[in-house]
Amino acid sequence: APSTIPTLRLVADADGLARAAALLRAGRLVALPTETVYGLGADATDPEAVAAIYAAKGRPRFNPLIAHVATPEAALAEGVFDEAALRLAKTFWPGPLTLVVPAAPGGSVCDLARAGLDSVALRVPAHAAARALLERVGRPVAAPSANRSGRVSPTSAEHVLSDLDGRIAAVLDGGECPVGVESSVVDCLGGSPRLLRPGGVTRQALAAVLGFDPETAGDPGSRPVGPGLLASHYAPRAGVRLGAVRIEPGEAALLFGAFRPAGLEQASAVECLSERGYPAEAAARLFGALRRLDASGAPVIAVAPVPEDGLGEAINDRLRRAAAPR
Ligand code: TXA
Ligand code: MG
Repeated sequence: APSTIPTLRLVADADGLARAAALLRAGRLVALPTETVYGLGADATDPEAVAAIYAAKGRPRFNPLIAHVATPEAALAEGVFDEAALRLAKTFWPGPLTLVVPAAPGGSVCDLARAGLDSVALRVPAHAAARALLERVGRPVAAPSANRSGRVSPTSAEHVLSDLDGRIAAVLDGGECPVGVESSVVDCLGGSPRLLRPGGVTRQALAAVLGFDPETAGDPGSRPVGPGLLASHYAPRAGVRLGAVRIEPGEAALLFGAFRPAGLEQASAVECLSERGYPAEAAARLFGALRRLDASGAPVIAVAPVPEDGLGEAINDRLRRAAAPR
């Protein structure tokens, strides 16, 4: 059973980084800040440490995890990169992009972190504290988002503690995550690259580098469980209603831009993702706003329309999963 020893909160200074690195190297779980969301980190080369991630999250099954490394060179040692993968890595690393590539023969990421697949998901995060920590660990760090399974992803150390206090050794506090939605996951296993999950690098930015719009492919980690059903994920306790142009009495309202739904005065709580209608600002505020509206106790969070352009694709992807049948 997970221990109930309180989780250490470490400041991202030299001492905190050294302690976080030592814990990871000893096979313990440490949540770390990245530019996208906080990750629940474990030594990716140690199957027992990786197994502890699933126990702490309460994840029902073993999904493949992203292995985080300090430099593109370290990533090249773990995977086999074709020309398109190299181009994407060169352009977007460090940054909010995950590349799924064939695992390198001499790679160190353990089977369990790859869920037994012969591919590996690699990312070089841009966050200064994450990079400093990864450098000190000197091994790939497997990290899913640092929330309990199925809940809203964490973009602050407080979010991490509210889900995982007592279940992990430490959280490295690096403040709020500037991007706010998870990395884009691109399959580079051969043929043309496919977008498995929209995220912090927009489809338009990927297309500009590839020379074509990457095909959309289902995310194997959250494959729909039945025809027409999206796997529930990123779910607050409250119900989530999308495309709301009218607010019913007592609902909480999540707004975007200048649009005001009818009946807004009946809302029990209101958050606006970006008054100016900027997708990047909205992404950075998304998970925090969902958590705050959820904490207001409203039975339903009614979400006004969010445009699909730029980071809007990733925002709408997360909102659709939050609204999916549970
Ligand atoms: O921004 C992020 O990506 C955050 C931070 C912590 O880096 N991490 C994150 O991890 O979102 P997680 O476990 O929630 O999502 C990993 C995604 C899943 O959609 C999973 O299916 C996919 O990556 N993935 C991992 N390995 C894969 C593989 N070998 N083949 C296909 N998809 C893979
Ligand atoms: Mg997640």
